[in-house]
Amino acid sequence: MTLRPPVADWTSDWDHLDPSWLSDPYPIWRNLRETCPVAHTGRYRGVYFPTHYGDIREIAYDPEHFSSRRVVVREGDYRVNSPPITSDPPDHRPLRMALIPPFTPQAVAKLENQTRIVCGELIDAIIAKGTCDGAVDYAQHIPVRVIAHMLGIPATDGDRFRNWITMALQDGITNEALLKQAESEIAAYFSEQIKLRREQLGDDLVSFLIRARLPNGDPFSDHQVLGALRLLLVAGIDTTWSAIGSAIWHLATVPADRERLVSEPKLLPIAIEELLRAYAPVTMAREIVDDVAVGGCPMKRGQMVLLSFPAANRDPDKFPDADRVVIDRKENPHVAFGLGIHRCIGSNLARMEMRVAMEEWLKRIPDFRLDPTRSMTWSQGTVRGPRLLPILFG
Ligand code: HEM
Repeated sequence: MTLRPPVADWTSDWDHLDPSWLSDPYPIWRNLRETCPVAHTGRYRGVYFPTHYGDIREIAYDPEHFSSRRVVVREGDYRVNSPPITSDPPDHRPLRMALIPPFTPQAVAKLENQTRIVCGELIDAIIAKGTCDGAVDYAQHIPVRVIAHMLGIPATDGDRFRNWITMALQDGITNEALLKQAESEIAAYFSEQIKLRREQLGDDLVSFLIRARLPNGDPFSDHQVLGALRLLLVAGIDTTWSAIGSAIWHLATVPADRERLVSEPKLLPIAIEELLRAYAPVTMAREIVDDVAVGGCPMKRGQMVLLSFPAANRDPDKFPDADRVVIDRKENPHVAFGLGIHRCIGSNLARMEMRVAMEEWLKRIPDFRLDPTRSMTWSQGTVRGPRLLPILFG
């Protein structure tokens, strides 16, 4: 974590990398929502931070004023190009549509068995060791191994994926050199995979992308296949790992919810939606391409907006008792997977991985709590989730 000047005033000088935001952002957001619903900071060359559900929704549905050509608030000018997440209409839709088939509910159902095997193996190792870190020994491996299986590459390459993701999404926010290094290593790795599949196509995601056609009938170029693979890696791994980690953290700290889910496993899908609402991991950003006003606040062209789906999920005007986790919440139209044209393509996969991960964990490790003698940490940046999550069990 870098040392940054302390925040002087959350309404006019906020910093999403400030230690208090990283450890517990919710009281800060609640206070802003009540006093200054669209906060601003001069840091990062100017960024607005709306906290009301309605304002966040309005921005997500207005790509004319709010472009996805910059989706991360970071130091420096470097822009990552990973369409469709970094593209705007009209370029956005053809690429998005081409990526959807591997993530339909039917396609995802075929991965459930493999996901259960992955979770079972991880839990075998945890039980054999007698102690564990819920993030390091469990959550972080699940999406990596599932995506490695989808891509038809060895699960052992997963460690490299995790390093690249940490370099790109965490450390890369303040260190451009690391971000570029991650990008070039990902490009080298996947270029080799694309070359191999061009020689012999298989039944995997890389081969699917090589076979895929854009609406005009053209195949993806190698550059486009590479971009799509990089996006799936970056969008699909630490998001789900963070969501699983937050679910374990919540149940480790709220015994009543843990006990209820152990005795009522059928409640798990509903509880997962609530955990996604309360601990939504992904905060995106947009670049303002034309002067505009949102929530009565004028916004200047060239600056950015932090598009906090997690803050929208905590708006009490939309979700009664929003700061409380109600694991059997009935009405729950949360926006953890975003809103508008960029809404998450991988939501079926993420939900399945979360459900299976928690089903297997609760079945085999029903009694667990945080280990108060070891430190617990949260990630910084676009994706929020536990990175160290020491657990005692049994
Ligand atoms: C709990 C896990 C996940 C969460 C919370 C999540 C959240 C999000 C959010 C909020 C967006 C909208 C981005 C924006 O508006 O700029 C998004 C987009 C996207 N997600 Fe996810 N995601 C998750 C898992 C996944 C997985 C597993 C995959 C695929 C392997 C995936 C692939 C994508 C892609 C490709 C987009 C871009 C869609 C577009 O631009 O049209 N995500 N995700």
